[in-house]
Amino acid sequence: MTVTSQPVESFDLVIFGGTGDLAVRKLLPALFHRFLDGQIPASSRIIGTAREALDDEGYRTQLREALAGSGDDTRLEPFLQQVHYRPLDARKPEGWADFAALVGEQPDHVRVFYLSTSPELFVDICARLGEYALNEGASRVVMEKPIGRDLTSANQINDAVGRVFSESQTYRIDHYLGKETVQNLLALRFGNALFEPLWNAGHIDHVQITVAETLGVGHRAAYYDRAGALRDMLQNHMLQLLCMVAMEPPSSLSPDAVRDEKLKVLNSLLPIEGSQVAQYTVRGQYRAGVADGASVPGYLDELGDAKSNTETFVALKAEIGNWRWAGVPFYLRTGKRLPHRVSEIVVAFKPVPHSIFGTATGPLAQNRLVLRLQPDEGVKLWLTIKHPGPGGLRLRHVPLDMSFAEAFGVQQRDAYERLLLDVVRGNPTLFMRRDEVEAAWRWADPILEAWAAGGESPRPYAAGSWGPSAAVALIERDGRTWNEESD
Ligand code: BG6
Repeated sequence: MTVTSQPVESFDLVIFGGTGDLAVRKLLPALFHRFLDGQIPASSRIIGTAREALDDEGYRTQLREALAGSGDDTRLEPFLQQVHYRPLDARKPEGWADFAALVGEQPDHVRVFYLSTSPELFVDICARLGEYALNEGASRVVMEKPIGRDLTSANQINDAVGRVFSESQTYRIDHYLGKETVQNLLALRFGNALFEPLWNAGHIDHVQITVAETLGVGHRAAYYDRAGALRDMLQNHMLQLLCMVAMEPPSSLSPDAVRDEKLKVLNSLLPIEGSQVAQYTVRGQYRAGVADGASVPGYLDELGDAKSNTETFVALKAEIGNWRWAGVPFYLRTGKRLPHRVSEIVVAFKPVPHSIFGTATGPLAQNRLVLRLQPDEGVKLWLTIKHPGPGGLRLRHVPLDMSFAEAFGVQQRDAYERLLLDVVRGNPTLFMRRDEVEAAWRWADPILEAWAAGGESPRPYAAGSWGPSAAVALIERDGRTWNEESD
């Protein structure tokens, strides 16, 4: 099949926080890759802004180093010629008039303002953009997560941004929704007749979602310590994955059809509050250990604050109170400094109602559908078959295994590549609507409140382990185990 990239109209993309980790490590490489595929028309501009006193050349020099080796180096210079820089402080008036004049030079362009800064600055930046009428025309604003620290602060941000940009101009990004396998969930669930009849409490025993990272918090410690694993990963990325697994079939792929269904899932999550929090959630914090074959310090040493109670690991058991999912646990876990980098969704089916195989073959293993987001994106369906050859009817549990890289031989695009161009094209399907963010906070807030009220420290775990033993107990208590393959 010939793959063609869809054309994109000319645009100006402004990155607030242009010298920050996300911009340099993710956004600019993603834009460079789209440039290499001919999706950044020549008159488009990428404008970085931050407080650093740089000019275009100074910024390009930083990026030249950061982007070297990330694509065809011979095309780096023409790409960098489309990149500009303006120093700006959201809280000071200097420089804004000059910036507005620069952006105003191409009034017919789609304009994207990407807020890759701490959420405390979103409001000030949007107010300035409004002051200079940069919100008019085909302008869009992109907000990085986490939006706020809780429902109240998220509402304050959304209200203030909403005074400048309408909801249809607002793109709340969750880069997990741009991952290939997450979209493949839509294709698998709604493009095959096979799964949908089984996709319910009658046939599914439980669902597991694991997002494990080997990295520690490193130089993001200051941000991370204010967030923690629940705000950083679970309230957004993992709940969005849960929604994609659990939502009802939308009537179409139109943005609101999909988001309406996700919202219903979020609103149906059973609250975990008060004393249930200790029963259904586990929070951990890594200590020194061995990760990726090297000795690494503990979180508190990395942070330089021996008192921090921030969790770097969270596991919990969620339930969805609706007809489709009643009584089906969704076990979620995520953490830093775990043994492998792996993100996957495991859908475990109920056993057959009666085994005809007698006791000699042992208990029948569960059918499991494993959707691996990273690394090595793909889908595995675990089935029971007869062990081939003589020796009687012996059963084996084997995967129907499809690695996308092997099957299609294509290098997967980074999630940001797709999502950035979706913003330019004006397609919000894979972005969070305000009501989704609110519903996610409404569910997460009582957990955060109970943790804060309890005042307990997170449970320690050694870097390179699968988190506190209580996370294993959380699922084993129910007679289930975390997917061994990821361990
Ligand atoms: C980000 C979190 O949103 O996602 C980071 O802030 C985390 O803490 C990252 O490391 C994980 O993304 P990915 O795509 O590497 O799984």
